[in-house]
Amino acid sequence: MSDTKKYVDQWLRDAHAMEQQAETILEGQIDRIRHYPALAKRMETHLEETKSQRERLEDCMERRGISASGLKDASAKFTAMMQNLGGVFAGDEVIKGALASYSFEAMEIASYRILAAAAEADGDAQTAQLCRDICTEEEAMAEWLKEHMPNLTVAFFDRANADDTEAKR
Ligand SMILES: [Fe+2]
Repeated sequence: MSDTKKYVDQWLRDAHAMEQQAETILEGQIDRIRHYPALAKRMETHLEETKSQRERLEDCMERRGISASGLKDASAKFTAMMQNLGGVFAGDEVIKGALASYSFEAMEIASYRILAAAAEADGDAQTAQLCRDICTEEEAMAEWLKEHMPNLTVAFFDRANADDTEAKR
């Protein structure tokens, strides 16, 4: 097996683990940001996209004959990383969550850009196209988060300064 093929297979497994982790993170965040309906709605849309991304990756891996073994190891790696990113949830968890989400999207964008180029190098145009398609969805999510950071910050202060401890989420 060529190194190119070997790495494409390995990185697809990593991407699959990354999407599994993204599902867990999004589900947790949507639950915590109920006071921010626009953010919650966008996160719900991205959760559906993320599930579809995971399924498309599974189809792709099956087509390439990649076994499911090793998925747990890669998944554990991302779990540990995200525990670090998301570890500081205090009263400003909506802001910390936005930071963690944007960082996660940046990692996804980089991963799929690398994978698309790697799949092209491996002569697998179908996988390359899938990675570009998924990358477009991640970029849209990252762009939305970036655009809405200022409004989210203002909304956070509105709630934080309100006489309501529930609001500080
Ligand atoms: Fe994703």
